[in-house]
Amino acid sequence: MKNNINEIREYWDNRAKEHISDLQGTTNDVYLRELEIKTIEDKIRALGLSAGASLIDVGCGDGYSTRRLAKAFPEFNFTGVDYSDSMIANACKQRDEDAELKGNVEFKVANVLDLADALGGAKFDVAITMRVLINLPELSQQQTAIRDIANICAHDGHYIAVENFMDGQSNMNELREGLGLPEIPVRWHNRFFEKDDFRKAADGAFKSLEFIDFASSYYYVTRVVYSKLCQIQGTEPLYDHDLYRVAMDLPYQGEFSPIRMVVMEK
Ligand SMILES: C[S@@+](CC[C@H](N)C(=O)[O-])C[C@H]1O[C@@H](n2cnc3c(N)ncnc32)[C@H](O)[C@@H]1O
Repeated sequence: MKNNINEIREYWDNRAKEHISDLQGTTNDVYLRELEIKTIEDKIRALGLSAGASLIDVGCGDGYSTRRLAKAFPEFNFTGVDYSDSMIANACKQRDEDAELKGNVEFKVANVLDLADALGGAKFDVAITMRVLINLPELSQQQTAIRDIANICAHDGHYIAVENFMDGQSNMNELREGLGLPEIPVRWHNRFFEKDDFRKAADGAFKSLEFIDFASSYYYVTRVVYSKLCQIQGTEPLYDHDLYRVAMDLPYQGEFSPIRMVVMEK
């Protein structure tokens, strides 16, 4: 049966209600999110934006990543949007309780498929998605979302996408199979991209596009080496095992991660 966007939104709404103020509202793999945030921070720094620049975190969930970026760059203005009103309620609550923030973050309920209207035509210097477009059940919706995000980017603005791809998932699963480990399936609410589909959707909307396999070593260590170790020892993998922390600091090699960063310039 095909997944429906409302069922997927309900999944995220329920997750928000179960995790009002802990760190796992949007993912169990919190070290992966740290690696994503660090890689995005490095990219934003490299863009050399001027003070007052505007950045939008599309599909911000409970706003954890938005708040982290807003603290790292207090000279920029951040907007976080998500279609789950429970996620946005958590985001506002956690922002209001966070004494380190300098008043540079706002949150709004908005669907990535309705951004221009929801944002009243506002344009942003940088748009970011972190594992968001993979929650759209149809390729046509994912393609529309990429173009709609291009439309909210300012002239010469950037879109930094951290999304999942089938070829990286297959590479990782091939390594697992070689070691006698079971395949990791794509979860019911996700649709991973083919690299070419992403490229085609971005073509014309952006003048340049770069794929970065920043999580390859991370996946190699956590989903292959550590999984094998757990199999040998007869234990269940734990997301807070020290190896996750070590994996986060490794330089990246190969294409063994479903997750990639795609940096696009308008
Ligand atoms: C995997 S979570 C990631 C959240 C956040 N970016 C992070 O990395 O912590 C995906 C988020 O995307 C949101 N989302 C999924 N589809 C969306 C859509 N069509 N419009 C807006 N938000 C969406 C979900 O509600 C959820 O909060």
